[in-house]
Amino acid sequence: MKLAVIYDSKTGNTRQAAEWIAEGMQKAEGTEARAFGIEDVDANFVNEAKGVVIGCPSYAALMTPDMRSWLLASASKLQMAGKLGGAFATEQYTHGGGENVIMSILTNELVMGMLCYSGGAACGRPVIHMGPIGVNGNVEPHNCLDHYRDCFRIYGERFAQKAQELFA
Ligand SMILES: Cc1cc2nc3c(=O)[nH]c(=O)nc-3n(C[C@H](O)[C@H](O)[C@H](O)COP(=O)(O)O)c2cc1C
Repeated sequence: MKLAVIYDSKTGNTRQAAEWIAEGMQKAEGTEARAFGIEDVDANFVNEAKGVVIGCPSYAALMTPDMRSWLLASASKLQMAGKLGGAFATEQYTHGGGENVIMSILTNELVMGMLCYSGGAACGRPVIHMGPIGVNGNVEPHNCLDHYRDCFRIYGERFAQKAQELFA
């Protein structure tokens, strides 16, 4: 089963998070996961995928303008309806708006007819409410994107397991 991760990233943090999610997805047997930047999406792969996770950095606590444009102009041309959907974000402040970004991506996914999944508290630790968020080390000396590596990987694995359960 194919699963895709699609991201916007200018300085590499969100790309790294996307790659960790794809690595986690690969742990679920029978899964082929690939991550794509919004400028380089393989439409055939995405159309064949049963699930798509979308992520971007927090810009003033919102998704980036480029991600918003991609969702409006390009995602609507892909066959997104009926797929499992998820969302993630990166930010440089612990309270930098990541959950707002995730909720707005999930809103777009719902509008496209996707079935949204976060894992949820029932999956236990790490507890992920809406989707995983990584805080980089740009301004907070105690933070570093690497601290969130396992969270992104585990989220990817949970997402793939749910997709297998629903679609395999
Ligand atoms: C224009 C702009 C606005 C930003 N706004 C926020 C913000 O509101 N909150 C925050 O925590 N980080 C903010 N950031 C930092 C980025 O969200 C953060 O560094 C992110 O990890 C960058 O992702 P990337 O490396 O994938 O481009 C902003 C960065 C830029 C360039």
